[in-house]
Amino acid sequence: MRFLRASCQAALIATLGGLVSASSLKNGYYDYIVVGGGPAGIIAAEKFIEAGNKVLLVERGVGPTVATGANETLVWNKDLTPIDLPGLSADVGSLDLWDEYLCSDTAGYAACVLGGGVTINYMVFVHPPAHDFDDNNNWPEGWKWKDLKSAADRLYKRNPGTILPSADGKRYDQGLYKVLSRFFNKLGWKSVDMITQPDEKYQVYSYPAWNIKDQKRAGPVRTYLPEAEKNESFDLNLGAKVIRVVRSGSQVTGVEVKLASGKTEIVSLADNGRVVLAAGALSTPRLLFNSGIGPKKQIETAKMSGITVPSEKEWLELPVGVGLRDHPIFSIYVETGGNYGVPDYDAIINGSDTTDINLYKNGDGLLTQGKHRMIFFSSNELHGQTRYYQGSCAPNAGSVLGITTYLTHGSTSQGVLGLDSNQNTVIEKSPYMQTADDRRAARSFIQQLVNDIQNPSTGFKLETNLNTTAILASQSPGMHYTGTAKMGTDNGLENGTSVVDVNTKVYGMDNLYVVDGSIHPDLPTGNIQTTIMIIAEAAAARILAQK
Ligand SMILES: Cc1cc2nc3c(=O)[nH]c(=O)nc-3n(C[C@H](O)[C@H](O)[C@H](O)COP(=O)(O)OP(=O)(O)OC[C@H]3O[C@@H](n4cnc5c(N)ncnc54)[C@H](O)[C@@H]3O)c2cc1C
Ligand SMILES: *[C@@H]1O[C@H](CO)[C@@H](O)[C@H](O)[C@H]1NC(C)=O
Ligand SMILES: *[C@@H]1O[C@H](CO)[C@@H](O)[C@H](O)[C@H]1NC(C)=O
Ligand SMILES: *[C@@H]1O[C@H](CO)[C@@H](O)[C@H](O)[C@H]1NC(C)=O
Ligand SMILES: *[C@@H]1O[C@H](CO)[C@@H](O)[C@H](O)[C@H]1NC(C)=O
Ligand SMILES: *[C@@H]1O[C@H](CO)[C@@H](O)[C@H](O)[C@H]1NC(C)=O
Repeated sequence: MRFLRASCQAALIATLGGLVSASSLKNGYYDYIVVGGGPAGIIAAEKFIEAGNKVLLVERGVGPTVATGANETLVWNKDLTPIDLPGLSADVGSLDLWDEYLCSDTAGYAACVLGGGVTINYMVFVHPPAHDFDDNNNWPEGWKWKDLKSAADRLYKRNPGTILPSADGKRYDQGLYKVLSRFFNKLGWKSVDMITQPDEKYQVYSYPAWNIKDQKRAGPVRTYLPEAEKNESFDLNLGAKVIRVVRSGSQVTGVEVKLASGKTEIVSLADNGRVVLAAGALSTPRLLFNSGIGPKKQIETAKMSGITVPSEKEWLELPVGVGLRDHPIFSIYVETGGNYGVPDYDAIINGSDTTDINLYKNGDGLLTQGKHRMIFFSSNELHGQTRYYQGSCAPNAGSVLGITTYLTHGSTSQGVLGLDSNQNTVIEKSPYMQTADDRRAARSFIQQLVNDIQNPSTGFKLETNLNTTAILASQSPGMHYTGTAKMGTDNGLENGTSVVDVNTKVYGMDNLYVVDGSIHPDLPTGNIQTTIMIIAEAAAARILAQK
């Protein structure tokens, strides 16, 4: 643990200009109430503002940047918090604020801080390939790449990502890249630029693309929120947890909010107003269950836990939580004989690493970069189904490198997310490796990679997980959850599998929408945050187009 004290946001909320205090929540005023200030929620809220609406964004966490109220800055830079500094992103898990920022009531990993997962993640920013939306028929008509390209362009204009963050145009700490590119070149793999060649996903490797802009962690907190905040029709309420939407049959009339003060209030919508859920794939289901929407068993649990759920005749039995998906991770460690290692994070935090800090002050150096040094992609085919894999490669210790290997797009496993009587979302059925073909395909991919690594000509040696079985057994969550309020044309009220329609509106409701990872009916080929942002851009446009 590093000694960065948690900031006291309750006090901050009362003192900061621009943020709404408990007493100033306006009843009957907002055209849109957006629940959850993660990447999807911030983007949607900003689009609604741009279109001339009055918007409330409710976020249960604190602000993580100086501009959003954080005051625990770096000792050597009063404008930056540790999460801003790309060079600390690899180590964010050992900061005190990790515990403060992580959700305490979700299954799996999610962040309960303004910016959501994008505030604490490893910043890997994978521009999705067209095939993510166009094969498998999982994304419905209207959500193919040709339909999404303009939304992606809007995102990339504001938040492009970069493979070369240092202002001097140099890359730092390239030992791992040299060793691994030699390895892949021998195997006949191709070097690509994963930003300009997003469709190249077979036997390719690239410098990592990161969610970095101007040498700082980027993402909607920096690239969308300031635009919304310029407008007086926008209110952001931090430290406020939405408990449920308030329904009158198929109409949402407002939301019940637990404020930072501990007080619970109902905020009502303007006439013809809408509520848009963006609490993330592991929390949006809880809001739906609490609002009488989901499998009967889950709504009953919500009721048992003390929530004021609607009367039973108003329940909408949609398959919320059913269809949970994620990328499994398999960890490979390789002794390469190279010479690299991890930065001295303590020295970066306490200011004694003056070499890197002085470089950073000019916009250069190691601290402008994220954790990984190379990302690779490939695929294999089994029974006509193509499955994709991503490898995120980072220095481990000494001459050992770590490869975080994900099974991604094309995997066929699904699980179930539910609720317990303490209001925690829980995994009732694992989303990982549920199908025989996923197990067979992943084993075959890992085995091939192990064979290549162990080829005597490489001089490489596996560490920790010494064979394919051990690597597969190291399985851990990819933290790229989707599918818990799936979008599709097969209405879940009529035996279908979908919770929201192609306009992202909840089936059976008139003015309730979902825009976060919950609605994605498939997994992307790479890390998911870019896709989350593109889909939020597209979803906001679809919602605004609904008169
Ligand atoms: C540790 C970690 C590392 C990751 N690394 C990467 C990576 O390197 N690259 C990548 O592409 N992806 C990565 N991801 C995944 C990515 O960050 C998420 O997929 C993405 O943030 C999801 O966006 P979202 O808007 O759907 O939900 P979230 O990011 O979960 O945002 C939901 C927001 O809603 C708020 N909220 C929840 N419930 C309520 C409520 N009841 N009332 C009010 N507010 C509420 C939360 O506080 C949060 O701010 C990582 C995720 C984690 C957890
Ligand atoms: C940070 O903000 C909190 C809440 O306003 C305050 O109590 C604390 O003293 C501040 N810390 C610093 C170092 O300014
Ligand atoms: C600000 O809000 C007004 C009124 O809602 C709207 O007309 C305008 O377009 C918004 N401006 C910006 C820059 O988003
Ligand atoms: C800062 O951290 C480094 C590395 O752990 C340590 O050697 C040094 O003594 C620390 N300096 C201070 C001032 O705490
Ligand atoms: C595989 O490796 C693990 C250690 O990672 C070891 O315990 C196990 O015995 C090995 N299995 C085989 C079949 O070699
Ligand atoms: C829904 O599916 C169940 C089980 O497959 C079946 O018994 C029932 O008749 C179906 N109902 C409708 C409306 O299709």
